[in-house]
Amino acid sequence: MTIEIKNICCIGAGYVGGPTMAVIADKCPHIKVDVVDLDIEKIQKWNNTNLDKLPIFEPGLAEIVKRCRGKNLFFSSLVSEKIKNADAIFISVNTPTKKKGLGAGKASDLKWVEACARQVAEFSIGHTIVIEKSTLPVRTAEVIKSILQAEVDCQNNDNKTFDVLSNPEFLSEGSAIEDLFNPDRVLIGGENHNAIESLIKIYENWVPKNKILKTNIWSSELAKLTANAFLAQRISSINSISALCESTGADVREVSRAIGLDKRIGSKFLDSGPGFGGSCFKKDILNLVYLSEYFGLPEVADFWEGVVRLNNWHQHRISKLITKKLFGTLSRKKIAILGFAFKANTNDTRESSAIQICKDLIEEGAILYIHDPKVTNYQIEKDLDNNNTKNSSEEKWHKVEIIDNVFYQADAAVILTEWEEYSEINWTKVSKDMRKPAWVFDTRSIVNSNNVINSGLNFWRIGDGYNQSIESI
Ligand code: NAD
Ligand code: UGA
Repeated sequence: MTIEIKNICCIGAGYVGGPTMAVIADKCPHIKVDVVDLDIEKIQKWNNTNLDKLPIFEPGLAEIVKRCRGKNLFFSSLVSEKIKNADAIFISVNTPTKKKGLGAGKASDLKWVEACARQVAEFSIGHTIVIEKSTLPVRTAEVIKSILQAEVDCQNNDNKTFDVLSNPEFLSEGSAIEDLFNPDRVLIGGENHNAIESLIKIYENWVPKNKILKTNIWSSELAKLTANAFLAQRISSINSISALCESTGADVREVSRAIGLDKRIGSKFLDSGPGFGGSCFKKDILNLVYLSEYFGLPEVADFWEGVVRLNNWHQHRISKLITKKLFGTLSRKKIAILGFAFKANTNDTRESSAIQICKDLIEEGAILYIHDPKVTNYQIEKDLDNNNTKNSSEEKWHKVEIIDNVFYQADAAVILTEWEEYSEINWTKVSKDMRKPAWVFDTRSIVNSNNVINSGLNFWRIGDGYNQSIESI
């Protein structure tokens, strides 16, 4: 029999758990949604009356939290209590790359997922549908099931039963709410028809039925890793071509447009940039690499690892060319960094290309003045690892809150995140503040090149071969 889900508990109040559950609560007023997290400070932020202080910046999220919080959406640290009351539990915890031990550097660290499964096994009552929302290696559902079953056997409690489903999340940060409101598809993998139907009933409140896809559980787990690998592969592909454009006189924007008009290729995800960042692309590909190696498929592993190798190379390529343009040395040179988040419209910096590029520039002796409208000084300090990048006598980087103050006496400005405000910079005004000869490096193709060049600044843009001196073959 299909159960009607009335009480949801989501374990993990992060970039996925928070927005996803807020949207379910908004679209299903008849369902009570509890989001729990061990991080008490994060929960306090979710409960802050000042909606500007939510732990995640995501367009449209604060409005939903305002509508639902305290009505059918609750944030707390009462993990065991909320598990007890739930008919369905979403596991939405972090699954980073393992740092040590077996599979270190590639395999996903499942310790948080395992801890959740143990908590669910211990505290749940009656029948519970356990839903994998986190991105997981193929066959993780088997691990979750065996932990749940072991507890049932241990407690000798036949009234405690479980179904495990895979329901990966495809939202992108910065457009999470829009993606959740209008998903391309909702993917549900599982074995038990009734459990799948119960979950479908939730999504049917706003997602058209033809967009809800049912698969077997392993296909669902693998489809999530594969989707991220394909997306990242497109970015590495176009970034590799950007380097070739700069060497040949071609323009990567023109190449992208020309190939994107081919319906088989499509126009999305063809913007060359400073390299892909974000918490998931790299870790999910490395996980795919690990799985391929584990299953004895070294050629498959090598193919996908190439996507990450290219991305690393591309980030260093950018910092090297900045150094070369500034006469081969950055010693004591002031560089304005515009953008630290891994993409616009988020305060997330995980795996942001800005981190590696800033570290490289600091290594070359530059002093960075970093502006980002949403990333905090504290976060930058964590990412640039103060112990390595600052010492007692000199500061290697500073956070600048007001954008106009970032250019004073700078030798270069480097645009690393495509925040809209950076496309509106008045370069004629800025040029007066910079130390000449000064450069603008646009890794996101968002500024008007003529405005920069006409203001007397040197200009470099990703994948732009027009301004390079090209040697014929
Ligand atoms: P996150 O780090 O922002 O949030 C995870 C949260 O889980 C943290 O707040 C942590 O404190 C909490 N947590 C960990 N163990 C817990 C436990 N036992 N009990 C209670 N709380 C616990 O991570 P995220 O970005 O939300 O990603 C979560 C998962 O979703 C990952 O597997 C990720 O790959 C996947 N995913 C992320 C995105 C994205 O855009 N960030 C998109 C799709 C899928
Ligand atoms: C990505 C996927 O797009 C989501 O579908 C997936 O759910 C999510 O990962 C996940 O599993 O975590 P996200 O990382 O939030 O979402 O952001 P993207 O828009 O995919 O951008 C990732 C990186 O690629 C960013 O650094 C972005 O600037 C870069 N990018 C993206 C480009 O350089 N060029 C492009 O054309 C597109």
